[in-house]
Amino acid sequence: MCGIVGFAGYQQAAPVLLEGLEKLEYRGYDSAGIAVSGVNGDGEPSIEIVKAKGRLKVLREMTDDGRSVPGCCGIGHTRWATHGEPSVVNSHPHYAKNKRVAVVHNGIIENYQTLREKLIREGYSFVSSTDTETAAHLLDKYYEKDPIEAISRLMFHIRGSYALGILFLDRPGEIYAVRKDSPLIVGRSEQGNFIASDVPAILKYTRDVCFLPNLEIVRLSADAIRFYNVDREEIQERFTQIDWDTEAAEKGGFAHFMLKEIYEQPKAVRDTVNPRIRDGHVVLEELGWDDAELAKIRRLQMAACGSAYHVCMTARYMIEQTARIPVDVDLASEFRYRDPLLEKDTLVVVISQSGETADSLAALREAKSRGLKTLAIVNVVGSSIAREADSVFYTWAGPEISVATTKAYSTQLAAVYLLAIALGRARGLVDAEKEAAMTQELLRLPDKIERILEEKERIQWFANKFSHSKDIFFIGRGLDYASSLEGSLKLKEISYIHSEAYAAGELKHGTISLIEDGILVVGVATQNALFEKLVSNMVEVKSRGAYVLGVTSYGNYSMEDVANYTIYVPRTMECFAASLVVVPLQLLAYYVALGKGLDVDKPRNLAKSVTVE
Ligand code: G6P
Repeated sequence: MCGIVGFAGYQQAAPVLLEGLEKLEYRGYDSAGIAVSGVNGDGEPSIEIVKAKGRLKVLREMTDDGRSVPGCCGIGHTRWATHGEPSVVNSHPHYAKNKRVAVVHNGIIENYQTLREKLIREGYSFVSSTDTETAAHLLDKYYEKDPIEAISRLMFHIRGSYALGILFLDRPGEIYAVRKDSPLIVGRSEQGNFIASDVPAILKYTRDVCFLPNLEIVRLSADAIRFYNVDREEIQERFTQIDWDTEAAEKGGFAHFMLKEIYEQPKAVRDTVNPRIRDGHVVLEELGWDDAELAKIRRLQMAACGSAYHVCMTARYMIEQTARIPVDVDLASEFRYRDPLLEKDTLVVVISQSGETADSLAALREAKSRGLKTLAIVNVVGSSIAREADSVFYTWAGPEISVATTKAYSTQLAAVYLLAIALGRARGLVDAEKEAAMTQELLRLPDKIERILEEKERIQWFANKFSHSKDIFFIGRGLDYASSLEGSLKLKEISYIHSEAYAAGELKHGTISLIEDGILVVGVATQNALFEKLVSNMVEVKSRGAYVLGVTSYGNYSMEDVANYTIYVPRTMECFAASLVVVPLQLLAYYVALGKGLDVDKPRNLAKSVTVE
């Protein structure tokens, strides 16, 4: 996820772009850049590009708050790295030769590798490792006289998601933009016209905006805005008035970043999964290991902290079932000191959203010091764990602002599924038919998550009844136990209600003594073979006075015979069920905390990234 802004108007563009980017830093903050079209010393049109690694203030200092870059038309970008580490060369804008075209991009061009190789064969040279530079060269290639034609040709060749802001050298004073599955708005005002990834970037100047529909192109100058469809026909678009305040706008109208990020999960999972599935096969080129290499792995050792540890717990069930390979799971803080017995041919997998968690980094270093092969599943590109691991699997969740993780968790689960399928195939346990079925279902998960989100009111209503609980328990078996651990952690992190999760079979060994009248017990049951057993455990707690909430898949209606209230999620392959049940559990935690009037995004005593031991 990155932030884009563009301005064509009657005043200097660079200061306006920097102001806009400041409001978009929540979308990315590892580097930033601007491109402004103007005239050089010889009176020729030119595009001046300034880029800087790090927070926006570095770019501000370099450009004297924009004053040193003259010109009234430009585009800007604040980056959250996906392809290529955070660096000046990888930051946007990117340009084609002679700076004939300059481009800023938000999204992921899935087929960039193939396009890049083709362009190199045609004589184009690349300076960055980004997918975006491909778009800049393609535009240069297709641009003859008509920018709209070049853009529509580009759209036929790139796959994935994109919002692009474009300057053409011989079109000074004009900005072109297009989008597919990544947001882009167009704003108009007396001072000039704008494009932006999100409303806050331009709210200081205008509330008169158009949410650009998918697959549409816009051309704007200081005094005109024109919209085109992919067939290059001019069309009319409607503008609406924004009546939110700036703070609400930064959260896209959501009350909290946590809720916004819960809603971003379908896209985050899509961005993580789609580029790694081709023709029914999982493609993990980025790891640098082929199937023969994967087949040599005899054991997996996983280590992580917090929610990422729960992903490891899910992975154990999933990978052992799919690839029949033993998986050991440790809390990173334990792993680093327990002097583990690790045999060669063990792959050590460290999972971390931030890539900076001190214990997870130490676990990785411990594994490396023993000469073992390491794999990091990380969200932040270029983070310490990503740099130090032998191979990296990036989850493309975009920046996560809320302390309690939601969308990063969902993408980590997706990463683990892809790894499990690849391992199973390499070991001859997942044949082409099974792989096709599993990948097809993976591609459907985002839509199923969307369906759960559509029913959030039921969860909200239920949560309100329990926001004054003292204790809440979660029970599950197998994969559902791992999901219960995550549901319980989410709840205690943000609602400060005491909560524990138990493997349901353990209840009788102590915990059941804690059950009192009216206490809420959440039973998670998505695994057919364990369904009856879990239901029996729910009967046991209910008969001791518990109020029972069942979370299960559509079709398992016998849950209602025991549960006081039931939440259903769409059916999926059982091995992927964790991705669906976690959503109502996140919403439950969110609405319970909201009901208590707590600061959901910044819970007390917790930090987003724990870089100390
Ligand atoms: C903190 C966060 C959790 C996160 C954990 C591990 O406790 O609040 O949401 O799961 O750190 O962080 P990582 O960045 O390594 O995934």
